[in-house]
Amino acid sequence: MSDSIILGIESSCDDTSVSVIKGNIILSNIAANQEIHIEYGGVVPELASRAHQQNIIPVVEKAVNKANIHKKDISAIGFTRGPGLLGSLLVGTSFAKSLAMSLKVPLIEVNHLQAHILAHFIEDANPQPPKFPFLCLTVSGGHTMIVLVKDYFDMEIIGKTIDDAAGEAFDKIGKIFGLDYPAGPIIDKLSKNTVENSFKFNKPRMENYNYSFSGIKTSVLYFIQKEVRKNPNFIEENLNDLCASVQKSIVEILMDKLEKAAEELNIKEVAIAGGVSANSGLREAMQKNIEKLGWNIYIPKFEYTTDNAAMIAMVAKLKFDRGEFADLSISATARYDIEERFKKDI
Ligand code: KG4
Ligand code: ZN
Repeated sequence: MSDSIILGIESSCDDTSVSVIKGNIILSNIAANQEIHIEYGGVVPELASRAHQQNIIPVVEKAVNKANIHKKDISAIGFTRGPGLLGSLLVGTSFAKSLAMSLKVPLIEVNHLQAHILAHFIEDANPQPPKFPFLCLTVSGGHTMIVLVKDYFDMEIIGKTIDDAAGEAFDKIGKIFGLDYPAGPIIDKLSKNTVENSFKFNKPRMENYNYSFSGIKTSVLYFIQKEVRKNPNFIEENLNDLCASVQKSIVEILMDKLEKAAEELNIKEVAIAGGVSANSGLREAMQKNIEKLGWNIYIPKFEYTTDNAAMIAMVAKLKFDRGEFADLSISATARYDIEERFKKDI
């Protein structure tokens, strides 16, 4: 069973990615990013679907060649069924079904959010995988939640954002600063060029383990409007400091609730996942808690943070070993809760 070779396909948003996994070892993980969205300041769904259609065959070819396998060696095809942009998901889903049918191998459906978390079980992701139960702060452009992971496919959301996701906050605030989309990695990079973080922004007061990021976005917007009226070059002259201040605030908001949850649930196994887990400020804050709070931390490698097919292949492998295959009549779904064990077709 462990020598199964599975090809995973990810197409939920604006990255077309294909990966080949053998056992728990990633043999290839290829992605084609869609630069077209930069000029629109965000992902344009119809352009994303069309780009997936153009990219998918070349990316599959590259992933198979890089893995140094033949298509006939493939034991199963895994694909992202949701959540995500429906048009984008449909391209990956249809292609996965056709490929599985032509190779006469089983088809395996994967929940994209579960995959971000289960990427921690890829052989080279961590020296040791996390032990159940663990907490995983799952932070991306579309989601921000604290997940209690009791088993591979037994996940409970114990806190989540009531409005914007953390990645969305980075991207929208970056737009206020005039930065390109996605602004998260740019804010991270610019933050590194300064030791200052002189600006303070409003932090939300939320119940339990929930988050809110719309307040900080508005707080930054009003502050910038006020300062730019006094000095039109304010953003330019303070860009690094502004980025560092925003990053510090977002990381503090994220970590406060994660620490509260870990303490109250008495859990010391703590992971982060999703695109924002690439953030250096968040990674540093996690590192500090090894000593400060006695945590065992799990931080994904950069290639397994933002959307990638390696994580899809990993989940498909786990399901392959359990014999959990999808019917060829399956369809993509834009909404797919992380707590759902398997979503029936509607
Ligand atoms: O998981 P992901 O690739 O796609 C979604 O499923 O949403 O996450 C993308 C998000 C974007 O909002 C992007 O700005 C953010 O992750 N991101 C970062 C960094 N790298 C990516 N945010 C802050 N710092 C980073 N280094
Ligand atoms: Zn994602």
